[in-house]
Amino acid sequence: MILDTLSIINFKNIAEGQITLSKQINCFVGDNGAGKTNILDAVHYLALARSMHTITDSQSVRHGEEGFVVDGNFKHDDGRPERVVCGYQRRAGKTLKRNGKEYERLSEHVGSFPIVVVSPSDTALISDSAEERRRYVNRFLSQIDRGYMSQLIRYNSALQERNKLLKTNPSEEMLLIYDAMLSASADAIFKRRTEIVGQLKPLVEEYYAMLSDERESVDIEYRSELQNGSLAELLLQSRQKDFVNEFTSVGVHRDDIQFSIGGFALRKFGSQGQQKSFLIALKLAEYRLLAEHVGDKPILLLDDLFDKLDMRRVAQLLRLVSGDMFGQIFITDCNKHRLQHTLSEAGVEYQLFHVNDGSATL
Ligand SMILES: Nc1ncnc2c1ncn2[C@@H]1O[C@H](COP(=O)(O)OP(=O)(O)O)[C@@H](O)[C@H]1O
Ligand SMILES: [Mg+2]
Repeated sequence: MILDTLSIINFKNIAEGQITLSKQINCFVGDNGAGKTNILDAVHYLALARSMHTITDSQSVRHGEEGFVVDGNFKHDDGRPERVVCGYQRRAGKTLKRNGKEYERLSEHVGSFPIVVVSPSDTALISDSAEERRRYVNRFLSQIDRGYMSQLIRYNSALQERNKLLKTNPSEEMLLIYDAMLSASADAIFKRRTEIVGQLKPLVEEYYAMLSDERESVDIEYRSELQNGSLAELLLQSRQKDFVNEFTSVGVHRDDIQFSIGGFALRKFGSQGQQKSFLIALKLAEYRLLAEHVGDKPILLLDDLFDKLDMRRVAQLLRLVSGDMFGQIFITDCNKHRLQHTLSEAGVEYQLFHVNDGSATL
């Protein structure tokens, strides 16, 4: 997938701008606060119809304006052109058009324009609670499998209903109905998460070994209560407890993914550099699986490339992602000379954009 041109109106600190992009590496350099990440976020809006940060659409509208428009001309790997326009108006909400036709549901868009983001905020995947890791897997899986998203929505609404019901001293029959609904979706979610973590595992190991010269092996493991039995059984076993607590205490809403290095928890025993290399390995593994499933090479956003990585490692990463396995790449850094030096060390071609006060120029 290649983004050929990008136009932006009133998106964050970008009043108006238009750029033509390279099929390979696009670098955005400029001071902190210049608008480099904002440009990447505009690309993210085109791919997934939302920000890569946890902010609302209205927070992405330039201060004092009514709405934003992000407009992009893409090309699939087989050469097919596509145009995506994402607009948001404070009063009318968000619209997404693909080749001039408006989507009825934004979720229909997800997965057609694959994208992978590496950013400083990825560290939340290691430091935050299991919820953050579930959210990551959910987002990843919804790009490759639309059915997954609907199972997840079904599961969450059945869970809410069951929790409500538990507060009302329900009959056995009523509970059994909800247990059955929950179980059906949970089984599908469990199966998909098991598969994807199994597929990620060897790739994360492979990329981590390429990115670091250390001997430690890394591991990623899916943890779910459903590994001890079907949810239907588990719900029966925990029924008394659920009555007392008035909420559902087992299920895939409690799943986690464990990251480890040399057999120990990455969060506690990994250095900052090791954690960062791990996260990049995870994202590159995600990239590979997305490319396989979607059939287009995803767009790769590398925000603040040098964040916690030394120059040698960055050069290693650049050599890796400039290979045939990867496609179009967007890189940001605040230090032009450091970036240029590292790019030439890695021996890769690139296009450089200077970002200044919300505008990008060649
Ligand atoms: N809705 C908005 N309207 C106007 N400016 C915004 C908005 N949201 C963020 N900004 C500005 O964008 C700038 C940050 O841009 P960013 O792309 O994160 O910078 P960097 O180049 O460091 O990546 C800040 O100056 C911030 O005030
Ligand atoms: Mg930034």
